[in-house]
Amino acid sequence: MAAQVRYSQLARYVRTRGFLQQACYTFQYESLYRHILDQKKQDQTYRYFRSISRLRDQFPFALCNRTGKKVDVWCSNDYLGMGSHPAVITAMERDLRTYGANSGGSRNIAGHSPRVEALEASIAQLHKKPAALYFSSGFAANEAALSTLGSKLPDCVIFSDELNHASMIDGIRHAKAKRHIWKHNDLASLEALLASYPLDVPKIIAFESVYSMCGTIAPIHAICDLAEKYGAITFMDEAHAIGLYGPHGAGVAEHIDFAAHESGRSNGRTAMERVNIISGSVSKGLGTMGGYIAGSAALIDVVRSFARGFIFTTTQSPAVMAGAHAAIQHQLQDRNGRIRLQRNVRAVKLKMAAVDLPVLPNRSHMVPLMIGDAELTQRVTDILFDEYHIYVQAINSPTVATSMERIRISPTGAHGPAQQDALIDALVDIWGRLGLRKASDWQRAGVWSAHEAATTQLWTDEQLGLASSPSRVSPPSSPLHDIRLALLSIFTE
Ligand SMILES: Cc1ncc(COP(=O)(O)O)c(C=O)c1O
Repeated sequence: MAAQVRYSQLARYVRTRGFLQQACYTFQYESLYRHILDQKKQDQTYRYFRSISRLRDQFPFALCNRTGKKVDVWCSNDYLGMGSHPAVITAMERDLRTYGANSGGSRNIAGHSPRVEALEASIAQLHKKPAALYFSSGFAANEAALSTLGSKLPDCVIFSDELNHASMIDGIRHAKAKRHIWKHNDLASLEALLASYPLDVPKIIAFESVYSMCGTIAPIHAICDLAEKYGAITFMDEAHAIGLYGPHGAGVAEHIDFAAHESGRSNGRTAMERVNIISGSVSKGLGTMGGYIAGSAALIDVVRSFARGFIFTTTQSPAVMAGAHAAIQHQLQDRNGRIRLQRNVRAVKLKMAAVDLPVLPNRSHMVPLMIGDAELTQRVTDILFDEYHIYVQAINSPTVATSMERIRISPTGAHGPAQQDALIDALVDIWGRLGLRKASDWQRAGVWSAHEAATTQLWTDEQLGLASSPSRVSPPSSPLHDIRLALLSIFTE
């Protein structure tokens, strides 16, 4: 019905605006395209791309292809620089030379290989699940898994967090199952919806561990409690958390039971074990390309057997899969990269809080700076880029709600103190020049409260080696630690 209304509105519009030529009545496609784009530009949501060439040996810097100048990239999802890590590059070069560029076809037709088997085994190992299935993107993984499960489970009802990523939303839509949207991270809202269905109705709760546009973290154990109480299964997207959380880089679910996973003594009740299906991307913290789901062997086999987005597409290049495999193996064994990154995140948030920059409070590695106006957000990013050679992307509607426009800063492990200070000095200058709202202004307006400290993080001081503890010896003092203490004393004055 809604689609019919939209179609008739469009048809009326097209007739009255002359997209149909009176003489021959052929449709004026190009005119319509231009009209759609003009509208998008008018409402400030038109997307402009910045052309940069990333420099492998100078991560996180890139060359601006317009000016030829070097820019400091503060918005990349290659959080750990794994895209330039020697282990990844070596594995990719080796496979490229051995197997060539192409996989040969879909998994069903000439595209299955020991390379993809090894990759799926390492994904399953990372998440401690019996099986995994690899896709050429995280988007494809979410869409394929949710659309398949939602259509195969009889009379299934899907409960989706309101801030879920587009790939999950599309999968849920394509399942054509009954669906409900629950308020972001709001357990009461989720429970009220779950309780309105009989226990024996199949239900899927779909959510993310870290929400990339605001940095909030899901209450995973509490969601699993509700799932158990109401007979639901859980589908959790860890796309932005893989490599960044947990002793082995498996994500937030691993991190919240840190000690159990660190000691290898998980008891079957850890969050990672309780969540039924974990989806992830290897295109972000793992620095390569692709996505996956991990879960029970039967579940993975169902998706493998029915998901159109899995069956009818060519398998990823062996070189890319080799890189992804090397990145996972590296993260399983070496946590230094994520510790470096999380220390930088902590330092950036503390420094920003000290100068009243409006970081949306969260406990993750995301640093969203609220601006609240599409045009101003674009101006901030233009000034940063043109005058300061700092690249941060504007985040506008429809990615975030209108008047919640922001820039999303993602520190990497390579953004040391000098780069942090250069960024913050630039932001302070721009905030002053444009008269933008500070954190205290947003707090006064009630958007978030002052006690939601922007500096309480999921990674504890102890896990970051910033505080001494009986179980771990940490450096007696570090410049970062000293900055932190100094800043904390400012807050408590
Ligand atoms: C939460 C979330 N899930 C999935 C994806 C898709 O992952 P990929 O970029 O590998 O397609 C993204 C991409 O940004 C994302 O933010």
